[in-house]
Formats: sequence, structure tokens, C-alpha cells
Amino acid sequence: MFLSKTNLYLLLLLCSSSFMVSLPQNNPYLTSTTLFLQNYHKMVQNFKVFMYPPNTNQFNFGSELESLFYSSLLNSSYLTQHPQEAHLFFFPFSSEISTRSLARLISRIRNDFPYWNRSLGADHFYLSCAGVSNINDRNIVELKKNAVQISCFPTRRHRFVPHKDLTLPPISNLHAPAISGCGDFCFVDYGNDMGKAMRLGCVPVVVVTDGDVNDMPFMDVLRWKEMAVFVKGGVKNNTDTWKKRQDNMKRLCVEGSKHLQWNRPPQPLDAFNTIMYQLWLRRHTVRYESSIQSN
Ligand SMILES: *[C@@H]1O[C@H](CO)[C@@H](O)[C@H](O)[C@H]1NC(C)=O
Ligand SMILES: *[C@@H]1O[C@H](CO)[C@@H](O)[C@H](O)[C@H]1NC(C)=O
Ligand SMILES: *[C@@H]1O[C@H](CO)[C@@H](O)[C@H](O)[C@H]1NC(C)=O
Repeated sequence: MFLSKTNLYLLLLLCSSSFMVSLPQNNPYLTSTTLFLQNYHKMVQNFKVFMYPPNTNQFNFGSELESLFYSSLLNSSYLTQHPQEAHLFFFPFSSEISTRSLARLISRIRNDFPYWNRSLGADHFYLSCAGVSNINDRNIVELKKNAVQISCFPTRRHRFVPHKDLTLPPISNLHAPAISGCGDFCFVDYGNDMGKAMRLGCVPVVVVTDGDVNDMPFMDVLRWKEMAVFVKGGVKNNTDTWKKRQDNMKRLCVEGSKHLQWNRPPQPLDAFNTIMYQLWLRRHTVRYESSIQSN
């Protein structure tokens, strides 16, 4: 049987849409679990990061989360002393640095090493819980447009670029008061105690006050739409609608919650290693060409 191009296209469309509808969501990942684990192991074995020599012996980080990520990276086997084998470059700086001094630091890296100019910062990443503010300076523009920013979840408005930047999931406070009820759904603050709720098999109900949800941790790894309920504006308690999906969602939550867990030292598949995995996914980057002249 021969099909015209249009019919073939329609057939494909039909098959793929019914495939999507009928396929039960049996894993918390955006790909199959097998594919995710294959890629993850490839990352663990191969990923190399070169860290620029810090300009100080002691960084002052504004949050426990930033220092935890930094010390986890420093202790890890991802760091290499050989920049020529690195997939990505890490550029460390203190949280309290002014944007002007940051611009000077980037300028120094640009002049002292050949790596920044090669991609205009696109194969670089940096840690900044609050995000870097905009100033009209070539170094800062390239940093913000090209380099991957790792900030803390939830992010500040206008300081996060979806699909490029990453967020660190919060450290769950084990001494926090028990999550209310621990039934099927738990109402959590945007971000807070999400990982704990999930670990206990409770589907987080996240109230989103403005804009779209695009800074959830591990957006390009986890299938959040099947693991949390996002309610815009106010809370609608439509129990019937969600009842059907809740058992499956609870299961995916427990399975996915390991990725939101911080450990000291890091454990396989935990928050630190999943951030590293997201960086690994971003190792082939597209740079934005700056048209702003150096100042
Ligand atoms: C990178 O490019 C700038 C000009 O944009 C130049 O001044 C600088 O010397 C270059 N860095 C290296 C290491 O060649
Ligand atoms: C939602 O409605 C159900 C059934 O009416 C009720 O049992 C539950 O407590 C309600 N949840 C909230 C958070 O109001
Ligand atoms: C990194 O190693 C140091 C020294 O062994 C240790 O004190 C610290 O807790 C480690 N950090 C993490 C996050 O594992």
C-alpha cells in the first residue's frame, strides 16, 4: 500500500497522538527510565568540569544551598585540572560581589584564558542564588545571555532564563512542622518542603501567584505535570478531577523525590548529581553573539 505524503503525515499524527493519550505515565522522567539512566551513567563516567582558579581562598555564599553545591562540586570527581578535556567551565565568585567587580573578573578570565572567547561564555556556568542583575556591560551581557546560571528555587523575576538556567531545589528542613495531613495532596509553599512532601507520597499542590511555572528544579528531567498540581491564583479544590490520577501521581512523587534530596556527601541520583546531569545536557550550547562593544 502506498500512502501520499499528506496521508502518511495524518497517519503519523493520529498514531502519535493516540499513543500519547493511551500510554500510562509509569515513570517520573520526561524520557523512558532506561534512557534516563543510560544518559545519567554516561554523565557520571565522562563529565568533566574545569574550575577557574578562585580569586579568593574563602567564598562568602549568601545561602547554605550555594555552599553545599560548591563544596559538593569541589569534592567531586567531575572537576578536572586539564581544561582541554573539560565539557564545561565553572566560574566561581562570592554572592556579595558587585556587578561591576563581576564584570572585571570576567574580563580577566577573557584575557587570561582562551576559553571564554571561544564560545562567548556559552560553555560556562556560575552559581548565584539571587541571580545577576543587568548592567550595560559586554561581560555581564555575555554572562547572562550565554552562561548557565544556577540559582535557588524559586527564582526572582527577570533573573532567570528558562531552558538555559537551572535552579537548586531547596534543602528540606527535617525539623519543620509535619506537612499538614499527609494525605493524598499536600499544599506546600512555592518550593518549600516540596521534596519532603513527595518523599512521603504526598502530591504537592503548588499555588502559583503570577506568571508561568518555568523555574521548577529539573524541568528538563522530571515530568512535573504528573507529579504536582499547579494552581494559578487561588486554590480550587476539585477532588473528583484529581482523584483518578492521584495514586499514580503519588507513586511518581516517591520515585522522583530522590532527585530533590540533598546529601552530604552526595549520593547517586540526588539533587547535586541531578544538577550535574542538567549541566551535562547543556554541554552543546548555542551562543548569543554580543553586539555591545567592550567598555
Ligand atoms: C578575547 O577577545 C578580546 C577581544 O574581544 C581580546 O581583547 C582578548 O585578548 C581575547 N583573549 C584571548 C585570551 O585571546
Ligand atoms: C477538598 O475537598 C475534600 C472533599 O470535599 C475534603 O475532604 C478536603 O479536605 C478538601 N481539601 C482542602 C485542602 O480543602
Ligand atoms: C567535602 O569534603 C570536606 C573535607 O573532606 C568535608 O568536610 C565536607 O563536608 C564535604 N562536603 C560535602 C558536601 O560532601
